[in-house]
Amino acid sequence: MSADFEIERPLRGAAFGATVRLNKPLAKELPQGLPAILAEAGGLLLIPGVREISDDPALLVRLSRQFGPEVEDYRFTLTNADSIHATVPEILLVSNMAPVNKMPPARPDPAFGADGRLPVQYPHRTGWHTDQSYRRPPPDISLFYAVTPAARDSGQTLFANGALAYDALPADLKARVETLEGLHAQPGTGRSRSAARSGKTPRAFAPHERSQRQPVVRTHPVTGRRSLYLCESGQMDWFEGPFVGLEPGPEGEGAALVDVLMAHLTRPEFVYAHEWTQGDLLVWDNRCLVHAATWFDGEREQRLMWRTTVHGNPGAAYAGEAKSWIPRELVQDGA
Ligand SMILES: [Fe+2]
Repeated sequence: MSADFEIERPLRGAAFGATVRLNKPLAKELPQGLPAILAEAGGLLLIPGVREISDDPALLVRLSRQFGPEVEDYRFTLTNADSIHATVPEILLVSNMAPVNKMPPARPDPAFGADGRLPVQYPHRTGWHTDQSYRRPPPDISLFYAVTPAARDSGQTLFANGALAYDALPADLKARVETLEGLHAQPGTGRSRSAARSGKTPRAFAPHERSQRQPVVRTHPVTGRRSLYLCESGQMDWFEGPFVGLEPGPEGEGAALVDVLMAHLTRPEFVYAHEWTQGDLLVWDNRCLVHAATWFDGEREQRLMWRTTVHGNPGAAYAGEAKSWIPRELVQDGA
């Protein structure tokens, strides 16, 4: 119990996460101690009822700064200007409305599992990723706020806990991934599994676009826990990867290992499915969780979410590295 908030653990229907109910408006006083609660809760916080952010978006940035030293300013990270908030450039707009026009993922086929529930496990469910893993160093934490969520029972965000999944890995798989590195690619750059299956030659990357190696097993810099760190079809490089040193390509030895690991990582007992309510804020730790968006009716609904991204504590494996995603000429210009 804290004067600033009340905590309920875990999140409903999940083995991890926490709900944090604030006792004071953010505009009056920012709550103290949330990063420690995030770490203790396995990397996922739900902060409901913070609708004041809709009227004062800078509050989201101020809250984000509590989680790390650097909140991404999207003006300087080659982000499409249509996806950047007009007055607060640390906020990325995620919406199916113009001018962002980001449509939701397709429904899984079949749309529901044999138990009538939302399917979560790969490969029935696809789209699992951790934010910006195609960058080195990758980001620490994302905050995602529901200005206007999709209707209930659609547009959920799913989270799978990489630490629980790592702990439960069979010993032979643990040994196999111990020092393995994945090769992560930016979505939309032509490196997806379906692009590789089509047989097309991908376009050449500029240096700052190159796919990036990431350890399959990450050690969390705050908790010391080990987690599986992996994406699937849209965010791995299926031409040169998906793993460094394993047979590449969409049907090779590496592909078979992604399928095994991702099916394990997204087992229902490691997953939380969030049904959004207006004014909900989720805070998640990209270093130990993967997540996936689900379908909503993008033709009839108008969904608007705000995202911030916090960088600065990726762990010892990235010590001293320059940002892979910033073109050298921009670094020299001081941007
Ligand atoms: Fe994401």
